[in-house]
Amino acid sequence: MMKRVALVMSLCLAPSVYAEDEVADVWKAKCKSCHGDDGKAQTKMGKKESIVDMSQVAWQAAESDADIRQAIADGSPRNTKMKAFKDKLTAAQIDALVGYIRTMKAK
Ligand code: HEC
Repeated sequence: MMKRVALVMSLCLAPSVYAEDEVADVWKAKCKSCHGDDGKAQTKMGKKESIVDMSQVAWQAAESDADIRQAIADGSPRNTKMKAFKDKLTAAQIDALVGYIRTMKAK
């Protein structure tokens, strides 16, 4: 009986835990090479392309969630290095990345 309760509980908890893990994995696989682990873009590409430091409070304030979502989905009109990800990621993954980028804001 206890076993069954534990199983049901782990099934209920799994999706949210998984979602958090997954967004971090997506960032590592598809974004980190240019934007860095922490969004500060202290990478070769980041320096070469002068990619913005996403942890900056001013950047976080200036960009709406819709702005960030659009940059990820459609890429940047100013720099083709920032490609459109709408065919590579699901809408839910893009939304999760917006949330993930919000967690990078400097404290
Ligand atoms: C090949 C390098 C590269 C990769 C990989 C990359 N980006 Fe970018 N990204 C850029 C560059 C360069 C810019 C700057 C574009 C500009 O100045 O308009 C940028 C800009 C952005 C912006 C907008 C910043 C602004 O101020 O408008 C967001 C948001 C963003 N990237 C998110 C992501 C996410 C999320 C991923 C992974 C799914 C990703 N990027 C992957 C190079 C990259």
